[in-house]
Order: sequence, then structure tokens, then C-alpha cells
Amino acid sequence: MQNNYLNKILNGNTFDILKEIPDEIVDLGITSPPYNKGENKKGWLVKNVKYSSSSDKMNEEEYQEDQIKVLNELYRIVKSGGSFFYNHKIRWEKGNLIHPIDWLRKTEWIVRQEIIWDRMIAANIRGWRFWQVDERIYWLYKPIAGNRIGKELNAKHALLTSIWRFPPEKKNPHPAPFPLSLPVRVINSILHEERGVIIDPYSGSGTTLVAARILGHDYIGIDISKDYISIANKRIKNSELEVKIAELEKEKHKVRKTFSDRKMKGDFTGKHRINSKSISVIKKDLQQ
Ligand SMILES: C[S@@+](CC[C@H](N)C(=O)[O-])C[C@H]1O[C@@H](n2cnc3c(N)ncnc32)[C@H](O)[C@@H]1O
Repeated sequence: MQNNYLNKILNGNTFDILKEIPDEIVDLGITSPPYNKGENKKGWLVKNVKYSSSSDKMNEEEYQEDQIKVLNELYRIVKSGGSFFYNHKIRWEKGNLIHPIDWLRKTEWIVRQEIIWDRMIAANIRGWRFWQVDERIYWLYKPIAGNRIGKELNAKHALLTSIWRFPPEKKNPHPAPFPLSLPVRVINSILHEERGVIIDPYSGSGTTLVAARILGHDYIGIDISKDYISIANKRIKNSELEVKIAELEKEKHKVRKTFSDRKMKGDFTGKHRINSKSISVIKKDLQQ
């Protein structure tokens, strides 16, 4: 039964397709859904990010209800002890802040961590607010045997911290892809040396699926656009062309210095330390 879905990209509305997938067959999911940006608004992001087969403008309440339904289907499909990484961003509607946590807390998932993705570039450069260069990535977790905390990450992955800095993808014809390094980081950290099944319910140009293929996992993709599925299938077929990018990300998961080495050299140890030299610089600044 599981094999009917493996290493395929299914075409259609994600909720309708997810409903057909059996319980607990997936180890890990990663996705970036449509953000409901409202296509009649102004701003670079809204003008340039238009999908080929779906509109990105829904009543916000309906949008959030739809996302909750999709996330709860994913909860059913992911194995107990499994995780789902959900990329979204903070938006504003008529001055009111809309935060992804608003609907994530209404799903069955445990919100295990909020990761800041520093994209180093702003989608809208008007001065209504400080330029928004961040998006968010939520690590959602499905408890196993009542354990809501889960297994510890291997230290070499945990050292990558809760702020991820990846520039946006530029060489991809899809209007809103994430960079390959992002799913590579998730898969490498969460599955570590295990082999698993990875799902992306809004797979677009197939970035998550290419990462799964390169790292030796099985995948399930879903997208409403046949055009994007065709781009994704071509990318997966030629995934060797993207191996280098994945290797570069994997390099970042190698620990070259012990904790004591870093402490001795004053490198980042996870603790904020002020030495006498930096105190004199701060004092000088305050006097100016
Ligand atoms: C932000 S993009 C995902 C991009 C992907 N992460 C990548 O790197 O290419 C969202 C995708 O969701 C698809 N989509 C929108 N509404 C959908 C729906 N109801 N069901 C399935 N796919 C949908 C769009 O076609 C688009 O490709």
C-alpha cells in the first residue's frame, strides 16, 4: 500500500490527496504552503509570486481553516515520533499582524521550535516597517507513547542554532522556491543516519524531493500544478547536478572544534561572554 505513493508526485488539491494516504507511513515532512498574500495587494512579492494553477487569495479565516485541516491530515500520516517542518511568515492585513502560530496552535501538532530563517533580502522595501528579511520555520512534532519532548538532536546538528541564514533561490523558474540547503539541513539533522520517507504536500519545483533523493530517502510530493510537477520530475532525474549544494550544507554539520577549543579561542559556545576588552569598547561607546 505504502509503495503506491513512494517516489511519486501526485497532482491535485493537497487535502483531497492527503485524505487517501494511509496512517503513519511518513517519517518527516517539509513544506512551504501558499502564503495567502492576496493578489490584489501591492509590493514586489505579491506581484512576482503568482502560481500557475492556483490563486493565492482566500478569505483569511478560510485559509487558516484549510491549513489546519491539511496539517491535521499530515499529523495522521506522519509516524509517531516523526516531525514536520512548516515554513511560513508573519503578514499584516490592514495593520493587523497575522502570525502562523495563530493557526499552528489549533492543530494536533506540538510546536517544538520556531526557527528564524534570515533570507538576507526584503520582499517589500517600503518604510511602513523595518524591512522584513525573515521568514519562520516551525518544527512540529508528533509525540510517541505520550513523550511530548522527543529524542535529542545529535549535537553536531543542534550547534547550527535556531537562526538559519540562507539567501533565496535565484536559478529556479518556480515563483517561490526555497533553497535546496533548507530541506538538506532538515533531513540531515532529523533523520541523521536513518533512511526514511519524506513528504512535501506543496512540492512546487520539487526542492524537498531533490534533497530527499540526493540524501538517499524515499519521497512523496503533491502539487496542484502540472507545470511545476513536470519541472520537479526533471530536477529529480538530474539531481546529480545539485549534489554539490547538498554537500556544502552537509559540511556545515561537521564539528571541527571541541567545545573546549571554541571556549579557549573565544568562538561561539552558546553562552554570551563579555571580556574586559569588550567592556572597555562598550564604555567608550557610551561616552560618545
Ligand atoms: C511556496 S510554493 C512551494 C515551493 C517549493 N517549496 C519549491 O521549493 O519549489 C507553494 C506550492 O503550492 C502549490 N499549491 C497551491 N495551492 C495548492 C493546493 N490546494 N494543493 C496542492 N498544491 C497547491 C502551488 O502550485 C505552489 O507550487
